[in-house]
Amino acid sequence: MINIAVDGPSGSGKSSLAKAVAREMNILYLDTGALYRAVGYSALTRLGESFSEESVYDLLKSLKVDLIYENGVQHVYADGEDVSDRIRTQPVAMAASKVSAYPPVRAFLLDLQRDIAARNSVIMDGRDVGTVVLPHADVKIFLTARPEVRAQRRVGELEEKGIKAEFETVLQEVVQRDHNDMTRPIAPLRQAEDAILLDNSELDAEQTLQAAFEIIRSKISQ
Ligand code: DC
Repeated sequence: MINIAVDGPSGSGKSSLAKAVAREMNILYLDTGALYRAVGYSALTRLGESFSEESVYDLLKSLKVDLIYENGVQHVYADGEDVSDRIRTQPVAMAASKVSAYPPVRAFLLDLQRDIAARNSVIMDGRDVGTVVLPHADVKIFLTARPEVRAQRRVGELEEKGIKAEFETVLQEVVQRDHNDMTRPIAPLRQAEDAILLDNSELDAEQTLQAAFEIIRSKISQ
């Protein structure tokens, strides 16, 4: 059994890296951001855009979030509905960032994440995997890149989907989300003391993967 934690800001390429490592090592990939997005999506659809902290607490009493692996691919369900595709929008990302600062939301999702790690070899990506969810993970990587590089990647992804995006607007959103995620009082985004920093501003996906494997190999052989 092996548990690998990959944390870092949005757009650093955590999910591409974690997916590739999972495939190569034949272990499970858990995208923890999808869980926060499922709660953000439920808050938006059930409570509307200007939801409050209190209304989200009420929502949690009846909300059911499940993670199901279908042919090795993670699907996230909110109240029995597969929302895996619907959570990949910018409004849902912002809502996820907002609800993720609410302590009961984090408590609500914690057991689900730990339970999967206890039963499977897994690589998990998120913001607090190495610091809170799996403090005893075998390997911890903190993946980051400069904000301008992350914003440019995001513009590229959107263009691939046929969506035109202004670099400056995307950069502002990246900086705003970094700020939200790093300054919240509970489980903020930060590098765990025993995490290895990997800045991939100047690396492509393949070089990032090779650098990650070097880190994993060096930790496992210790
Ligand atoms: O990784 P992502 O963009 O899908 O994450 C969406 C939001 O969820 C992100 O802005 C912060 C929050 N999040 C978190 O607080 N803790 C995690 N482990 C993963 C995501």
